[in-house]
Amino acid sequence: MTTVLVTGATGTIGSQVVAALKGREDVKVRAAVRSAAKADALRGGGVVPVDFEFTKPELIKKALTGVEKVFLVVPFTAEQVEHATKFIDLAKEAGVRHVVKLSALGCEYVPGIDLGRWHRIVERYLEGSGLAHTFLRPTNFMENFIHFNPPGKDGNIYLPFGQAGCSFIAGADIAAVAAAALTTPGHEGQAYDLVGPEALTVAQVAEQIASVAGRPVKYVDVPEEAARQGMVGAGMPGWSADAMLQLYGLIKAGHAARVTDTVQKITGRAPTTFAEFAKKHAASWK
Ligand SMILES: NC(=O)c1ccc[n+]([C@@H]2O[C@H](COP(=O)([O-])OP(=O)(O)OC[C@H]3O[C@@H](n4cnc5c(N)ncnc54)[C@H](OP(=O)(O)O)[C@@H]3O)[C@@H](O)[C@H]2O)c1
Repeated sequence: MTTVLVTGATGTIGSQVVAALKGREDVKVRAAVRSAAKADALRGGGVVPVDFEFTKPELIKKALTGVEKVFLVVPFTAEQVEHATKFIDLAKEAGVRHVVKLSALGCEYVPGIDLGRWHRIVERYLEGSGLAHTFLRPTNFMENFIHFNPPGKDGNIYLPFGQAGCSFIAGADIAAVAAAALTTPGHEGQAYDLVGPEALTVAQVAEQIASVAGRPVKYVDVPEEAARQGMVGAGMPGWSADAMLQLYGLIKAGHAARVTDTVQKITGRAPTTFAEFAKKHAASWK
């Protein structure tokens, strides 16, 4: 029996990793949560919620007691590197054997972009820690079209991607790879580039959302400055909007259209298409 701590267990990827591990006889899952209300929804099938807060070392130590493996998601905040490195120190102290870290595609490129650099600093820290580690480096999540860039009331998706394609990936596929890395041998020291099965433009994504939502949805390609104003206007801090724009610039330049067979190789099944994802999540856009 392996005890696995999943951080960010109420978030997009962590919640799907918990679901992927739930009900397995060989795994006990500790789902790290900040609120009791959200904890109850996760309970059952070998999943036990545990109080967790990256700013509270005492809570982290308690959550890590008896844990052998960790799925590490660190939320996208100004303190992300500090939170991650402190967590790694505490995981080492607690006797954790293996950390599977959610990173980002291309984070190893130099000079790269801020988002990638922050992930790579943490990856390097893990490499130097002596802990066994696996890096999952996904591209843009399909879920972003639900949580961050859904079609508005006007039916428009505003993004500065130009006409470039991106091989968006479903969170469930990242979670399936995470579950394999946490429960089967041979993943220590590996870094996996995780992408979906096809590169789609946002216009093509909009068409697919329209077909399941039963209403017109259109992509509007916006200039960078308008995208920045939109993000900051929606409450995003300037540093974070700037980091997103660097990423969007790479996508617009065509650097996110690559397709790999990594998900298929590790999980034994083809990655989710956007059409399948859209069908499953149609209610989110109605
Ligand atoms: N979005 C993308 O396309 C994309 C692509 C590649 C890589 N990534 C990487 O994915 C990661 C984000 O994953 P995600 O989208 O699954 O995250 P998410 O949905 O934003 O969820 C964040 C999770 O962290 C928890 N959390 C927030 N602040 C916390 C704190 N102070 N202490 C403890 N827990 C805290 C949240 O809990 P509450 O529910 O209580 O708020 C939630 O469970 C980032 O590292 C990002 O760079 C994202």
